[in-house]
Amino acid sequence: MTHDDASGAALVAAARAAREHAHAPFSRFRVGAALETEDGTIVTGCNIENATYGLTLCAERVAVFKAVSEGHRRFRRVAVVADTATPTPPCGPCRQILWEFAGNLEVILGNLHDVTARYHMADLLPAPFDARLIAEDPNTR
Ligand code: THU
Repeated sequence: MTHDDASGAALVAAARAAREHAHAPFSRFRVGAALETEDGTIVTGCNIENATYGLTLCAERVAVFKAVSEGHRRFRRVAVVADTATPTPPCGPCRQILWEFAGNLEVILGNLHDVTARYHMADLLPAPFDARLIAEDPNTR
């Protein structure tokens, strides 16, 4: 899917549609994510829960892993949608994954009707750990 979407409306709509596929029988909290690649392709994800709970994957990570597995490596924006008035920002592990694969991308949060918040990843994950720090250690060279 590609698009021309300055406001992010199409990206948020894609996240809403992805949310419909959520597998959340344990929490019943359904989340959709849509990741926009540098060339305008949209790759979506939904949360997929597991009876062991700990194996649950958030919508954001599903979208990132799908995109990477399909050969995408450069990203512009991500939209995350839940059915709540309060925005649903990415959880801590998803922030790390988003940062490592997508850097300081724009994060658009919304619900079934509206966009409720906009951030950049650097706002959500200040002072990140990433591969640059590993490379700084003389023992890793
Ligand atoms: N969840 C997401 O998919 N994304 C978020 O940003 C927050 C949480 C999922 C994980 C779990 O399936 C459910 O929401 C409740 O935490």
